[in-house]
Amino acid sequence: MTEAAASSTFTPRVFSGIQPSGGLHLGNYLGAIKRFVDMQDRGLNGTPIETIYCMVDLHAITVWQDPAALRQNTRELCAGFIASGVDPEKSVLINQSQVPEHAQLAWIFNTVARMGWMQRMTQWKDKAGKNTQNASLGLFAYPALMAADILIYHATHVPVGEDQKQHLELTRDIAAKFNHDYGVEFFPMTEPVIEGAATRVMSFRDGTKKMSKSDPSDASRINMTDDADTIAKKIRKAKTDPEPLPDTLEGLTDRPEARNLINIYAALQDITSEAAIVEVAGQQFGTFKPMLADLAVAKLSPISAEMARLMQHPDEIDAILSRGAERARVIAEPILRDVYKIVGMVR
Ligand code: TYM
Repeated sequence: MTEAAASSTFTPRVFSGIQPSGGLHLGNYLGAIKRFVDMQDRGLNGTPIETIYCMVDLHAITVWQDPAALRQNTRELCAGFIASGVDPEKSVLINQSQVPEHAQLAWIFNTVARMGWMQRMTQWKDKAGKNTQNASLGLFAYPALMAADILIYHATHVPVGEDQKQHLELTRDIAAKFNHDYGVEFFPMTEPVIEGAATRVMSFRDGTKKMSKSDPSDASRINMTDDADTIAKKIRKAKTDPEPLPDTLEGLTDRPEARNLINIYAALQDITSEAAIVEVAGQQFGTFKPMLADLAVAKLSPISAEMARLMQHPDEIDAILSRGAERARVIAEPILRDVYKIVGMVR
């Protein structure tokens, strides 16, 4: 069976996840959450599609998390999803550890995936650093759990930022090896959906580095909890160059900081980067930055205000997650049951 045929036999379904390790930032919003909302509301090429979005707490603990902070960050991430427009009625919104089938399928995948595959993952190399002997076993096996998150729902489409591409290729490798080893066409070949103007939002201090919660400089990123003044100040102070903006994207080739701000402007407005550069051609940063700051404040500060409001009601957040877990298990349970049958487990 060809790959196209393999995935076309599955009902289209979207899954994606974010780690509740604190510090939700503009990269997560533009690269992931905003696109989750688009898929929820607009479907896939105009056809409605079921959407499942997840706080991956089991992934978060592959590096040390303070328990009280993890609880707080999981609720805050849930508030961030909802404040950004993920509707818990339209989408299934879950916390990973509340749906035990993720971890159960991950164990099966630990026996399918090969050590060499894991060793090649750039996230493993980055996060484990030089002292791999001291990294957790969970950090090494991280991509197998991620494959399980996706495949426990037979998800066909996964919207993510560019940094997750390698993990999604591994998900396909795991699905293909399982199908091949057991002689079945059970798991789909999931498609990554890496689209839009801001699939890789860069640091405000260094346009060659990804915007990230682990950057020691708070000025390098916009946090989704920043207030309007802080957002505007960070944009005004973002590193740029002295040249005016060109009229084509080619003119930004060796100007990573300028390119980053154009991509952010485009993504916030829901237009392409090509359309954005035409709109602002010839402007100096002295004109463009205040315009970008106004746009960012208009789009982001209602989200941070709504997050703060939702965080006043942790019981409601917990109820949403319990309900989400129930709905998710209706899909996940039969798939896990079939996996156990295929593998030969007596039930
Ligand atoms: P995480 O928690 O690091 O990031 C969540 C999402 O945000 C995107 N992202 C960015 N996009 C653009 N620019 C940036 N600077 C930027 N930084 C982060 C990420 O690409 C991601 O889409 N392994 C995943 C979580 C995960 C998952 C899954 C994702 C677990 N299971 C199953 C999809 C499907 C992660 O660590 O994302």
